[in-house]
Formats: sequence, structure tokens, C-alpha cells
Amino acid sequence: MSRKFHVYGNWKLHNNIAASRALADAVVSATADSRDRVVTGMAPVFTSLAAVRETVPAHPHLMVLGQNGYPAPKGAFTGEISFALLKDLGCDGVILGHSERRQIFHETDAFINEKVQAALATNLQVVFCVGETLEERESGRTWEVVGGQIDAVLPHVAADLRARLIVAYEPVWAIGTGRTATPAQAQEVHKQIRDRIAQLWDATAAAECIIQYGGSVKADNAAELFACPDIDGGLVGGAALDAAGFAKIIAAAAAIQR
Ligand code: 13P
Repeated sequence: MSRKFHVYGNWKLHNNIAASRALADAVVSATADSRDRVVTGMAPVFTSLAAVRETVPAHPHLMVLGQNGYPAPKGAFTGEISFALLKDLGCDGVILGHSERRQIFHETDAFINEKVQAALATNLQVVFCVGETLEERESGRTWEVVGGQIDAVLPHVAADLRARLIVAYEPVWAIGTGRTATPAQAQEVHKQIRDRIAQLWDATAAAECIIQYGGSVKADNAAELFACPDIDGGLVGGAALDAAGFAKIIAAAAAIQR
């Protein structure tokens, strides 16, 4: 089977409502030519989600995503947003387990697992992020760490919800550093992830699962990364804040024949 490319922009803590609306509008226009081949996603801050939802037309290849959520549906959780509320706003999906959530906000594998299961149960697509730090890579523990993050979540996903889960491999040392993993480094881990999914789920689910690469993806390195057999697109930070540059990354995916 051939998997579609999914290229999503994680806007992190950038852009007010007006700037988010303008960026979303520009991305929709600039990516029109690739629309049938590449699923394009945008994840703005919570306060811009409604404006971006209004701007992005409903289309199976255009995704609006939240950057976080809380597993409980409601209750005394001051400051939190439930997945049902993201759904209510018209979100298609949510990013979970990002290394910034893990490192800065001390989110554990167990908590991320709770979130993933709750979000999937709410009918959201989940971009589940995994990745090792530089120190973990240099001490030869990349798969131990990434495999552990995968094993904390994937065995708990019910068979009928698996198609909604995307894995994003984002080596922490490549995020925001300009230091991209080489295609060979990324492909090696993507293959390990896919092989593990085949063990935990089954071969068909593994063959169908979208695995994005994230970490300093730019217009000039996207093509070589996306040419790797197990890399199904990207989760893009800084380079997604510029519509023209982001559109080039999407065009790089659209140009690859699978
Ligand atoms: P950069 O593309 O800025 O390295 O960020 C990657 C990322 O964290 C996407 O979630």
C-alpha cells in the first residue's frame, strides 16, 4: 500500500489571532496544487484555533490541530482544555507528547498515554511525538528511549482507533537547532518504529501508519528526508511560520512518487 504524505506545521507559541489567520490563509492558497497528494496540517495556539478553523476550509487533506489537551472531559482542572472542547471547536486533531511538553512541563509517558487514549476516544487524530536527547543518542540509547515511549502508548490503543494515530519522530537535538537528522539516521529510527508497530499491532496497521519526521525540516532538506521509505512527511516548527517556505516543503512531498 502507499501511504500519503502528511506535513504539519506546529506553530508553537507564535502568532496572535490576526497573524494566525493570515498565515493559515496563505498556507491554504500556497498549497492548493499539492492538495490531492499531501495532507497539510496547522497547529496554532489555542486562542487562534477558532480563527484558523474559520479560515481553513473543511477538506480531508486540510487538518487543524491543537497543540495539547487534558485527558479528563471536565472538572476542576483550572487552565486546562479537554479534547471534547477541541472537537467542539472543529479541530481535526491534536499534537501530544511533544518533547517540549515532556521536558519543560515534565509530562510523563503515563500521562501522555492517558492523553492519547482520551483524544483518540474523542475522535481526534493524534500526532504522538517521540524522540531522544543528544545525550541519549550519544550514549547509544536511542532505541531504548524511543522504543520505551512507543511501548508506553501503542499497546493501549484499541484496534478500531489505530488509523487515527500518527507517530512523529522528533530527535530532541534536532528541534530548533538547525541540526537535522541525516536521512539515514531518521530512516533507521522510522524503520525501527514501524517494525515495533508490526509487533505491537499487526503488519497491516504498521504498513498503514503515518510516521512523520520532525526537527529542523526546511525547504532545502525536505526532499531527501521524504525520499526515505519509512518517512511519511514532517512535523515542522520554525519553517512552518512562513507560508512560502512551508509550501515548498509540501511541494517536496508532493513531488515524490510512491
Ligand atoms: P523545528 O522545525 O523548529 O526544529 O521544530 C520541530 C518541532 O518541534 C515540530 O514539532
